[in-house]
Amino acid sequence: MACNLHSVLPGRKFAATSCQLMVNTKMGNASVASLNSTVTSTGIPGPSTLIMRKSLTERILLEPAERKVGNGKFGRFGGKYVPETLITSLNMLEAEFHLVLHDADFQAELATALRDYIGRETPLYFARRLTDHYKNNRGEGPEIYLKREDLNHTGAHKINNAIGQAMLAKRLGRRSVVAATGAGQHGVATAAACAKLSLECTIFMGNIDMEKQSSSVLLMKLLGAQVKCVDGNFKDATSEAIRDWIGNLETSYYLPGSVVGPHPCPSMVREFQSVIGKETRRQAMERWGGKPDVLLACIGSGSNALGLFYEFIRDDDVRLIGIEAAGSGLESGRHSATLAKGEVGVYHGAMSYLLQDEEGQIIGPHSIGVGLEYPGVGPELSFLKDTGRAEFHTATDQEALDAYALLCRLEGIFPALEASHALAYLEKLCPTLPNGTKVVVNCSGRGDKDAATVFKRKQDINGAMHASFSLLLNSCKPP
Ligand SMILES: Cc1ncc(COP(=O)(O)O)c(C=O)c1O
Repeated sequence: MACNLHSVLPGRKFAATSCQLMVNTKMGNASVASLNSTVTSTGIPGPSTLIMRKSLTERILLEPAERKVGNGKFGRFGGKYVPETLITSLNMLEAEFHLVLHDADFQAELATALRDYIGRETPLYFARRLTDHYKNNRGEGPEIYLKREDLNHTGAHKINNAIGQAMLAKRLGRRSVVAATGAGQHGVATAAACAKLSLECTIFMGNIDMEKQSSSVLLMKLLGAQVKCVDGNFKDATSEAIRDWIGNLETSYYLPGSVVGPHPCPSMVREFQSVIGKETRRQAMERWGGKPDVLLACIGSGSNALGLFYEFIRDDDVRLIGIEAAGSGLESGRHSATLAKGEVGVYHGAMSYLLQDEEGQIIGPHSIGVGLEYPGVGPELSFLKDTGRAEFHTATDQEALDAYALLCRLEGIFPALEASHALAYLEKLCPTLPNGTKVVVNCSGRGDKDAATVFKRKQDINGAMHASFSLLLNSCKPP
């Protein structure tokens, strides 16, 4: 096992023994236990009844009897590989997170925000024409449903987590929030949540991504965020954001956009995103009286995938399939397929699979879906890979572009290029499935932000570009 120990402070490396600090589980577990008993003894109803059409007692966050946030270890993965200066802040965050999991006021406020601000629940849409497209010559094939996270306010699943964490930041008495974004979706979601909750907001973004996702930069600025340009892409922006937070631990809150980073970040983001799978279970039950057979999601760092999968992890009859970005091809060296090609190491505070060279240095990731360009992956997904509970495959840039175009034409839906990777895998998956198999694809975001990239790629392939496309592209220079 390779064990390259990148710390959150660029340039500094820590030996595993000296930087692996124990989590204060005693405090965390004690508070969970006592709060659990309070909840059961007082019978506080799940606030999610506010957003339920049926009388199911579904809670927005963790269900006390079933779920444990744990100590942040997923087998050999996860942990808290950070300098000591961060431990107090992370422990405070962990304690507060344990509290809000069972806090009726927080749950009610979150339920209201999810319903009235974000627009949940998102539909489970039957993609009839896509289903027909994948039928074989006997007219048989799976039924394809899209979980429409693209219909969320700000256009992606990222807001589910951003709003929850911004509320936490407020409870912790922080004045400002700092975050990093690649595709811009997490940046826009965080900026919106901060505007709503009156928090100052700074978003770090790589110069390459700012050019590709210029419309998101405009939105973040309009929402009142300060957008700071970093040389490089998402991984560089993340390092800068963490560095900025370390300089302002008393007043600032670092808001991770995915299930990565030191404990409790992966568990916390997963819990805020788990509303996707909870809704899916209920919607499937209402629609066909059972569970989905297959869940399919793209994987950048893993938040939309775990958000959908987590509810079904104990349902062994539900196949969980994650799709990574193969970029220009797995053998090209230009991809973001961490689970397919990575080795175990430590990056941004946790142990997981990682794209690294023989000396343990990070290999720059590539994908046409900017939000998939991260050299690591959430530790819980690494665990699901090693245990075999989930399957992982890949889709190339070209396959994702084809899937984007197909969904536009067949369903009138623009999927984000990130989500298009999951859709692309239907080409390989559908012919292998029995007739009537129920497949749910997480349509994690909307693809308007990617239209210019798709047109440009078309132009590169076709040579000439139509004049109106040219006009459109020229008006999209980075602000
Ligand atoms: C629409 C969309 N889907 C997926 C992702 C990948 O992130 P994750 O794997 O955390 O869901 C991103 C990241 O920015 C995104 O914007």
